[in-house]
Amino acid sequence: MARFTLPRDLYHGKGSLEALKTFQGKKAMICVGGGSMKRFGFLDRAVAYLKEAGMEVELFEGIEPDPSVETVMRGADAMLKFEPDWIIAMGGGSPIDAAKAMWIKYEYPECTFEDMCKVFGIPELRRKAHFCAISSTSGTATEVTAFSIITDYAKGIKYPIADFEITPDVAIVDPDLAETMPKKLVAHTGMDAMTHAVEAYVSTANCDYTDPLAIHAIEMIMKDLVPSYNGDMAARDRMHNAQCLAGMAFSNALLGIVHSMAHKTGAAFAEYGAHIIHGAANAMYLPKVIAFNAKDETAKKRYGVIVDYMGIADKSASDDEKVAALIAYLRKMNDDLNIPHCIKNYGADSYPCEQGFVPEDVFLAKVHDIAVNALGDACTGSNPRQPSVEEMEKLLKCCYYDTEVDF
Ligand SMILES: NC(=O)c1ccc[n+]([C@@H]2O[C@H](COP(=O)([O-])OP(=O)(O)OC[C@H]3O[C@@H](n4cnc5c(N)ncnc54)[C@H](O)[C@@H]3O)[C@@H](O)[C@H]2O)c1
Ligand SMILES: [Zn+2]
Repeated sequence: MARFTLPRDLYHGKGSLEALKTFQGKKAMICVGGGSMKRFGFLDRAVAYLKEAGMEVELFEGIEPDPSVETVMRGADAMLKFEPDWIIAMGGGSPIDAAKAMWIKYEYPECTFEDMCKVFGIPELRRKAHFCAISSTSGTATEVTAFSIITDYAKGIKYPIADFEITPDVAIVDPDLAETMPKKLVAHTGMDAMTHAVEAYVSTANCDYTDPLAIHAIEMIMKDLVPSYNGDMAARDRMHNAQCLAGMAFSNALLGIVHSMAHKTGAAFAEYGAHIIHGAANAMYLPKVIAFNAKDETAKKRYGVIVDYMGIADKSASDDEKVAALIAYLRKMNDDLNIPHCIKNYGADSYPCEQGFVPEDVFLAKVHDIAVNALGDACTGSNPRQPSVEEMEKLLKCCYYDTEVDF
């Protein structure tokens, strides 16, 4: 038996933030990040709509990018004091993911972070509150997914919490919120969405329900991401839907080792100046992982189908040629979006540069542990080809040096 779960309601299109006016409840806690939602007036509008719906509103502000366990615990304490019956999470993946974890702790105060990380082990929620997610970036699709990514900075590791219990009750996909994204954020979140769709399509948990969502998302992202990056606002609006479709696919079909590697490298080098931004990590690793996975016959065929839909190779070409076309296409997208091809060239603000902030000796000293951690990531199980520790280490090295994957 397989399960396919999405939010009960999804409001989309320009101005759909107004849907908040129709919510029924007594108390809403709005969880937001560092200030972009306030700066652009969306937070004030959300507060006004909820008040119009007759609710008392309290804010939990300042959730940092790549939220920490500590922030989750602080937010849960605020919820335990205020006792909301609606949690409204607004912003990028970071505040929405943090709010999902706070929600678990609010409903089950005795639940520890370790308990939350047991895959599909969350007890029944919605005894105290319902959850609405309003996304302002076009990538994570956390507004429709069963996932939340929380960083344990003491360990330097990102942990995915995965359970359909945390799939939001309501998603609001209003492209107005995404129009204020700076270019870099468009690039990173857009390639995150592309990775979600490609990984979901070749995942071992793919099915008839997830395939069309993944394929349509890929077709839209290939047309709209680069124009959106270059300032085309109609393309930016369509990207907001495209990333959401990709999210519907991967929330149910799961992901693969691009994400395992991104989760385990993201914070691993934080003490050397910066962390590797999630979307940029995916953009760099995806072409390498496609080459690795294509050694599996089923995965290779499915990459071929993706290429047929994208129309980037002759239909009569061999699957090997189609895989090569897909890899070349994705690398060209990285060039168009100013994202480097490998960790070695990953510089400040994720711009490509000759020598990035992760020195070779530091990378080599850590690569074994990162490989072990990546294998243990919740996303590894559904990857079409299961790597050994040695293979994972080799793959990570290819992602550091931008060398060819020939194993
Ligand atoms: N839950 C999931 O299914 C899932 C999937 C993929 C990634 N993630 C996680 O999500 C996080 C990344 O989320 P993200 O990429 O959406 O970015 P983010 O939420 O970390 O935000 C990044 C920055 O962009 C700003 N910002 C957000 N929206 C903006 C807007 N419209 N205009 C201007 N500035 C804006 C924020 O204030 C912040 O400074 C990572 O922790 C990643 O691991 C979660
Ligand atoms: Zn992702």
